[in-house]
Amino acid sequence: MPRPIMATISVPAMQHNLQHLVSGLHQQANRLGRPSPKVWAVMKARAYGHGLAQGLAGFSGADGLAMLDLDEAQACREAGWKGPILLLEGFFEPRDIHIVDTQRLTVSVHGEEQLRMLELASPAHPIKVNLKINGGMNRLGFVPGKAHEAWQRLVSLQARGVVGELGTMMHFSRADDDPKITQRQLSGFLELVSGMSGPISVCNSAATLTTGLWAKLPAGRPQWVRPGICLYGASPFAERNAASLGLKPAMTLEARLISVQDCPAGSSVGYGHMFTAEQPTRVGIVACGYADGYPRHAGTGTPVAVAGRTTRLLGRVSMDMLAVDLTDIPEADVGARVVLWGEGGPSVDAVAESAGTVGYELLCALAPRVPRRIIHADNRGSDFQRFQETTE
Ligand SMILES: Cc1ncc(COP(=O)(O)O)c(C=O)c1O
Repeated sequence: MPRPIMATISVPAMQHNLQHLVSGLHQQANRLGRPSPKVWAVMKARAYGHGLAQGLAGFSGADGLAMLDLDEAQACREAGWKGPILLLEGFFEPRDIHIVDTQRLTVSVHGEEQLRMLELASPAHPIKVNLKINGGMNRLGFVPGKAHEAWQRLVSLQARGVVGELGTMMHFSRADDDPKITQRQLSGFLELVSGMSGPISVCNSAATLTTGLWAKLPAGRPQWVRPGICLYGASPFAERNAASLGLKPAMTLEARLISVQDCPAGSSVGYGHMFTAEQPTRVGIVACGYADGYPRHAGTGTPVAVAGRTTRLLGRVSMDMLAVDLTDIPEADVGARVVLWGEGGPSVDAVAESAGTVGYELLCALAPRVPRRIIHADNRGSDFQRFQETTE
């Protein structure tokens, strides 16, 4: 019998989250009397750990897909995705440009090296480019003093037919927690790109879900938002949970109890004896550990659901097991269902918070050894379904 652990990936939840986001944007756009932004569904890191096939099936209603790796982009094309694909970090070496060209990908151009590579390239089709501005994150992008020169060089490449549609993008560093800094980054960006043209893309999940933020962008220029985490049903905000944002978890991690220990007061549990019982405690051992992707830094008190009831983690997480408190769940015995996060259990964000991290990390870090069960959408048997069977 396989070890009793399983991750369930729900394509319908992903579809719901995209639809929910899009209808919120439409409602705002209608109120403001302006076009709704288009949506790049961000699918990097194999759709935030949910698998490319699931991302494709879940976000087939998006206007475009955004990712990092050329091989992910190629796999999406092979699976039948014909819409736009944005490479968030663009290309890394000259030979990548050939793939960008043949697969008709849109690229971010964030640095001098990429500009030079484009200047030496002669693609068969003009390449769509988003000039990336460094708005204050100081990771990628042209700083304000260099952005105009970069833009002019791209405009020259456009005249030569190397570059096609040209737009601008930026990535907020604190859209999730600091509206003032976000507003300052937005104002700086808008001032900088006022002399440029084409589509604009600045909003991640937090900025997209901040009412009215995208509406501050020039109405006359096409806009693309770039949500990622919210499409998987987790919250980009520390202070607002995903359910209150109308999102449904796309990943549920569950396992079963494989042992139960009755620990007298004074006895300790697990490596390092990080939990010592103050009173007689019924302890359940769950078939899930850090080698499955459960965070080792989650300590005593981290929420977990056993047999449908919320309880707490006890002591230190081991490689293949963790301990939970069953004192108030006497009906739970070996074989009982344990939800570590997702549908029927705590949110991935709540578990992440207990471990001092964010839901993004837990979703992306689900270990390959955990078997996946996919809840398919109605489009079973589509090209994207076949892709899953052959590729993942
Ligand atoms: C450039 C870029 N855009 C959009 C996103 C999506 O961000 P989020 O998952 O917070 O929505 C990311 C993710 O880090 C990113 O790097």
